[in-house]
Amino acid sequence: MKVLVTGGAGYIGSHTTLTLLEAGHEVMVFDNLTNSSVESLRRVGELSGKKIPFYRGDLLDETAIDSVCAEGGIDAVIHFAGLKAVGESVANPLKYYRNNVAGTLNLLGSMERAGIRQLVFSSSATVYGASERVPLSEQTPLDATNPYGRTKEQIEVILSDLCHSDPQWAITALRYFNPAGAHSSGRIGEDPQGVPNNLVPFVAQVAVGRHEKVLIHGSDYPTPDGTGVRDYIHVMDLADGHLAALQHMQDRTGMFRWNLGTGFGSSVLEVIDAFSAAAGKRIAFDYGPRRPGDAAISYSDVSAAQLGLGWAAKRNLAQMCEDHWRWQKSNPTGYN
Ligand code: NAD
Ligand code: UFG
Repeated sequence: MKVLVTGGAGYIGSHTTLTLLEAGHEVMVFDNLTNSSVESLRRVGELSGKKIPFYRGDLLDETAIDSVCAEGGIDAVIHFAGLKAVGESVANPLKYYRNNVAGTLNLLGSMERAGIRQLVFSSSATVYGASERVPLSEQTPLDATNPYGRTKEQIEVILSDLCHSDPQWAITALRYFNPAGAHSSGRIGEDPQGVPNNLVPFVAQVAVGRHEKVLIHGSDYPTPDGTGVRDYIHVMDLADGHLAALQHMQDRTGMFRWNLGTGFGSSVLEVIDAFSAAAGKRIAFDYGPRRPGDAAISYSDVSAAQLGLGWAAKRNLAQMCEDHWRWQKSNPTGYN
C-alpha cells in the first residue's frame, strides 16, 4: 500500500514509518517539523535502505495538504501530526484546538477530495480522564480532563460522524497508553524539546547526566508502593499495532477504536528500578507532591485489540528501558 504518514518525523511516526517500510509498504511523510527534525527520517531511510518522500508542510495550510493528497495513488493515511503537551494545552487551549482539531478537519477534507477513505488516527488513553475503573476498556466512558485530551475526544467524535455520513470510510482510532522505548538499533528514539514532562524520557535524561534527579509526583497514591501506576508500551509494539490496524481495515468499513497497551501496570519506582538496571547505574530521585490531574492507576484492557486486531504487545518494561537507554546514551542530546 501507499501510505501517507502525517507527523512521520516525530517519535511514534518515525518508528511506525520504519515498520511500514520493512513490511513492504510505500511511505510518504508530511510534517511541519514543529516538534521534530528530518534527521529522524534520514536515519529511518538508512535503517530501511529505502527512500522516504518528505513534504514539509503544516496541516493548517489547506493547500499544502491538499496538493500532497491530490498527488494520487495514496491508499491510506496514518495521522500522528498533533501537539501533545498537556500543560501547554491548559495554558493555550486555542493553539491545541486549532492545531489538532482544525488540522485534522483540513486533512479529512483533502482526503475526501482525493478519494482517500482509510485513516488511522493517534488517539490516547488520556480520553478516559482520571477514571479509576481499571483496566480501562474501550467501553469506559470518555472524560478527558484537559484541552489536549479533549482534542482527541472531539476528533474521535468527528471521525465517527464522518463514518456514519459516508459508508465508504474506514477509520481506526488507536488509544495509546504510555509509549516509551526506541528502535533496537539505538538510531531513532524520542527526542523531547525542552525539559520532558513524561517519566521515561526524564529518567533517561537523568541517567545520561542532563538532570540531577527524578522528581516523583506523589508517594501517597493507593498503589502498592504509593507511586502512580501506568501501562508503558514499547514504541515498536505500537508501530506493529498501526500495521495491524491498516491490515484490519482492508476488508472493512466503519469506525473502530482500540486500546494499545500491554494490560500491565508499572509504578514510577518500578520504572526507575528497571531503567537503573538497564543503564547499570543508580538513578537519583526525590519525592514531591502529586501532579494535579494525574490518575493513581491506569492500564489497558487488551482483550479487544487481541481479539479484533490480532495484535498484542510483545516487549516488556526491561526491554523498553534497555532500548530507550541504548538510544539515549548514543544520542545524549537527541538528534542535535
Ligand atoms: P511528536 O511530537 O514526536 O510527533 C508529532 C509530529 O507531528 C511532530 O513531528 C510534529 O512536528 C508534527 N506536527 C504537529 N503539528 C503539525 C501540523 N499542524 N502540521 C504538520 N505536522 C505537525 O509526538 P509523538 O509522541 O510521536 O505523538 C504522535 C501522536 O500520538 C500525537 O498525535 C500524540 O498526541 C499522540 N499520542 C502520543 C502519546 C505520547 O505519550 N507520546 C500518547 C498518546 C497519544
Ligand atoms: N511522573 C513522575 N515524575 C515525572 C514525570 C512523571 O513521577 O517527572 C509520574 C506521573 O505522576 C505518572 C507517571 O509518572 O504517575 C507517568 O507520567 P507521564 O507524564 O509519563 O504520563 P501520563 O500517564 O501522565 O500521560 C501520558 C501522556 C499523555 C497521554 C497519556 C496516555 O503525557 O499525553 O500518557 O497515553 F495521554
